[in-house]
Amino acid sequence: MSVCILAIESSCDETSASVCRDGVILSNVIATQSVHESFGGVVPELASRAHMQNIVPVVDEALKQAGVELKELNAIAFTQAPGLIGSLLVGAQFAKSLSLALNIPLIAVHHMQAHVIANLIPEEKPSFPFLCLTVSGGHTQIVLCESATQMKVLGETIDDAAGEAFDKTAKLLGLPYPGGPLIDKYAQLGNPDRFKFPEPQIPDLNFSFSGLKTSILYFLRNAGTSLVYKEEFLKTEEEQKQFIAENLNDICASVQQRIVSILLNKLKKASQQTGVKQICLAGGVSANSGLRKAFTEMGQRHHWKTFIPAFEYCTDNAGMIAMTGYYKYLANDFVSLSVSPGARATF
Ligand code: KG4
Ligand code: ZN
Repeated sequence: MSVCILAIESSCDETSASVCRDGVILSNVIATQSVHESFGGVVPELASRAHMQNIVPVVDEALKQAGVELKELNAIAFTQAPGLIGSLLVGAQFAKSLSLALNIPLIAVHHMQAHVIANLIPEEKPSFPFLCLTVSGGHTQIVLCESATQMKVLGETIDDAAGEAFDKTAKLLGLPYPGGPLIDKYAQLGNPDRFKFPEPQIPDLNFSFSGLKTSILYFLRNAGTSLVYKEEFLKTEEEQKQFIAENLNDICASVQQRIVSILLNKLKKASQQTGVKQICLAGGVSANSGLRKAFTEMGQRHHWKTFIPAFEYCTDNAGMIAMTGYYKYLANDFVSLSVSPGARATF
């Protein structure tokens, strides 16, 4: 029997719906919420309201693009956790209502597991076990994926996520939110070896980006003369702005190079420790051109087989929820209508 799943993703500021038949994604519709841009970050209340406005048209469009009718669906999958609770509630309530109305099973999906599973969407898939570096605005994790439904977090950030490190740096540079793609753009024009930012000495496979953020803050306040706080190093606002304007490309390239080296050094360590050489990227930051290039080069040096999902499956999307839902369907892993979304969740 063929398995047709409708999936809904609403954990943060993208409202997305996808239809998947037998593990093949037929549609992946994403409505991005531009309402947050002027606030310099996602405003939870505005995100929930936008999800409520978007969800019906987004689901309709996903069904239409897939050429699938409601009566053909075998299950509804939705993002249960983690995320903004108000945003998750909109998707969860919608999914539950549809599952009840159509009398078909409901599948709860962990958002971070789904980012990993995005690597199983293309025809050429990694074989198990594989490692995945998931880098997004809210998370930074190295995951050992033993099967489509069995995963273990080997390391994660103890403070900021990699995407936050990009976005907070962009904010310090006076760039709009989300600043990650802009840092990437300017970095391509700059010299990554011009400024040296510190690499945190964190044991095991965990990450930390808060020290880097502090050193960038003082580096800018000191107009590039030092990475530490001392009153006599501080420059006037005018001097700081001029320094940024004259060195923007080199600053972006140097910061990006450091974030990428922090990520990849841990990934290399994870591969050495586990002996796993099938290695994937996932999450919004995997769109970063510097990371993609360095990841591919590192893969060639260490004889890894590397995988990066297509861009639309790197950032938040329901395609990855549908694919995870498909594997959960095969494993008979369903939830009852009493399920609640969760802002935080480990796996
Ligand atoms: O996975 P995602 O879409 O949403 C979350 O679940 O957080 O990731 C969004 C993050 C943001 O921090 C954004 O700045 C970052 O991904 N990002 C990038 C690039 N494109 C998106 N960071 C660096 N370079 C990029 N090209
Ligand atoms: Zn995400």
